[in-house]
Amino acid sequence: MVSRSYTVAFEGIDARLVEVQCALSPGMPHFSLVGLPDKAVSEAKERVRAALNALSIALPSRRITVNLSPADLPKEGSHFDLPIALSLLAAIDILPKDAVAGLVSLGELALNGGLIPVTGALPAAIAAAEAERTLICPEASGAEAAWVGNTPVIAPDTLGAAIQHLTGARPIEVSQPGQVVPDTANAPDLSEVKGQERAKRALEIAAAGRHHLLMVGAPGSGKSMLAARMPGILPDLGPEEALETSTIHSLAGLIEQGGISRKRPFRAPHHTASMAAIVGGGKGAKPGEISLAHNGVLFMDEFPEFSRNVLETLRQPIETGDVTVARANAHVKYPCRFLLVAAANPCKCGYLADASRACARVPACGEDYMGRISGPLMDRFDLRVEVPPVTFQDLELPANGEHSSVIADRVAVARDRQRKRFSEFPGVTVNADASGKLLETFAQPDAEGQELLRQAAERVGLSARGYHRVMRVARTIADLAGHDEVERTDIAEAISFRVTGVTGS
Ligand SMILES: Nc1ncnc2c1ncn2[C@@H]1O[C@H](COP(=O)(O)OP(=O)(O)OP(=O)(O)O)[C@@H](O)[C@H]1O
Ligand SMILES: [Mg+2]
Repeated sequence: MVSRSYTVAFEGIDARLVEVQCALSPGMPHFSLVGLPDKAVSEAKERVRAALNALSIALPSRRITVNLSPADLPKEGSHFDLPIALSLLAAIDILPKDAVAGLVSLGELALNGGLIPVTGALPAAIAAAEAERTLICPEASGAEAAWVGNTPVIAPDTLGAAIQHLTGARPIEVSQPGQVVPDTANAPDLSEVKGQERAKRALEIAAAGRHHLLMVGAPGSGKSMLAARMPGILPDLGPEEALETSTIHSLAGLIEQGGISRKRPFRAPHHTASMAAIVGGGKGAKPGEISLAHNGVLFMDEFPEFSRNVLETLRQPIETGDVTVARANAHVKYPCRFLLVAAANPCKCGYLADASRACARVPACGEDYMGRISGPLMDRFDLRVEVPPVTFQDLELPANGEHSSVIADRVAVARDRQRKRFSEFPGVTVNADASGKLLETFAQPDAEGQELLRQAAERVGLSARGYHRVMRVARTIADLAGHDEVERTDIAEAISFRVTGVTGS
């Protein structure tokens, strides 16, 4: 007699339905598991056996075969324990076969029958909802899975509790979504940064159009401080974006207490982080920092200090908004539409522009240091600003700059204009997403602007990418100013952020 139940296998952020079939047949007692299981899945047999033993349920003295179908899809992780146990319990008639066949479940079993939380409850719930099935997951993952909304989520704490629920002996209430993670009241505010008006303007434009920003300046001039204030001026995530970002965080096991955040993620990996940590991959092909920053900010402090490999690998994801991670037997794609904010000192000693403190190797020291950022990578920064040291006069002034909330309001208005403009173009929400053709339709400057752009392109030798990037930034500047058409001043400001003392063009 064959029983069946369902679980999922993860492919990037998608969860694919996997049928867990269990058959009992005459022969020597044996428990075999087939269907491309990895080591953790193979060990499920032992955990299931021990957990059933803890509930005083003996395995039948027959051949037990569990098949994970489709057989050619690799199965990874420890979340297969619960569906295997449920399918087996249905095969030995402890659970009703019909009820078990209508379930998608995931969870790791402890030897005493407890259910241990696993990553990926949110994408599993999305797959369960699409298949119109109930999801059973460990208690600690219930609040997270319940966010999907259109499928019932049952979250028992032990295998015993799951059995009692499914036999009707002690039903468990459907899980409710966790709390929305509250805004942190003491988030850093841009008004605390004194002076640095140009850098603040660059931050505002970057936030409004999702343009990548590079800040270069002496140590202690406030670059890290400015970057940390970026999330405070970005609008909250929309419902779809929040679900998308949370799905990635769920796969990485980063959702705490089932709470989903509407704040945009801010990821700041250290420059010594490995390629797998930044781009994704490694064991289980987990999403990397660039995917965890999806729909939010990726802050790379001390940018030239990152390994050359990591920096060069960023080039493709910056352009396409997704990254393909190679695994032993498959490729996994994760989205990574982030806003890159990078900060760097102008040279290794940091004081290139300050003759009294600069090292003896000036200017070669600066050329070597910035030279670590390759031309094509530099080309991807739409906005480049120099952040000079703050003067004592500036520091003595009261902190009376604009508050983050005021700037956030302007950014929100500009983003609204963009959303409306691109409403008919799927996948395009901000100017940075617009392709060359869309730019020609929506970001064509007026005659004077066009002339200025042509002159600049010739004089500084803008690349084709550079040309389009200037048009995108100019469109954002026009959106912030409320201009319907891109004007000469918008183009001029966009060019000024591209052609700075910071190398590249
Ligand atoms: N513009 C500023 N307004 C107010 N305080 C500032 C400013 N710039 C720097 N500071 C003070 O200096 C400290 C260091 O600033 P921050 O870490 O942002 O510098 P940095 O440019 O990132 O330096 P590094 O290149 O060494 O990383 C801040 O915590 C703050 O106390
Ligand atoms: Mg810093």
